[in-house]
Amino acid sequence: MTALVASLAIGYLLGSIPFGLILTRMAGLGDVRKIGSGNIGATNVLRTGNKKLAAATLLLDALKATVAAVLAQALFGSETVHLPGLLGGFAAFIGHLFPVWLRFKGGKGVATYIGTLLGVFPLMVLVFAIVWLSVAKLSRYSSLSALVATLVIPVALWLLHQPETALVTAAMTVITWWKHKENIERLISGTEGKIGQKG
Ligand code: G3P
Repeated sequence: MTALVASLAIGYLLGSIPFGLILTRMAGLGDVRKIGSGNIGATNVLRTGNKKLAAATLLLDALKATVAAVLAQALFGSETVHLPGLLGGFAAFIGHLFPVWLRFKGGKGVATYIGTLLGVFPLMVLVFAIVWLSVAKLSRYSSLSALVATLVIPVALWLLHQPETALVTAAMTVITWWKHKENIERLISGTEGKIGQKG
């Protein structure tokens, strides 16, 4: 039990590394929280105009959750028991949203959501990508694409008879939607920034 709590704490600490903030600062682009939506995620890093940095942010933010999920799963899971991996990814997701280093004011969780799926149920990353890309192609809104994709995932997992994974991802979806409340308001009022629009 103590070891599981320790691995979740490691997941939280991994998730709390704010790669978007670190990379933009290292590139001399200042504080990403002062541009665009103020978020530390890849979509807002893209508003600096640096596509490579945005891609690196997406990758690193996702992989920190994958590492946390794989670690917890390797230590405590089995072929049939996926809950430890899910909880590891969830811990990283929470770490990204509420990082101790940034006074608990973090990101919106989309990349760590994807990273958790990659660690526990990689096929779902494909589903996420297809939904995200389709909505993005039609709307050009990153937030809307993420909102729709995070709705589809728990439903798809439920239909695939993965109730445990469906329930944990449903919880992540609710939290992700709550973190996107300002995006939702902007989408409704027609003031949400489109993908790549500079901040
Ligand atoms: O992944 C976050 C995205 O859904 C919204 O980002 O910067 O437009 O609030 P942003």
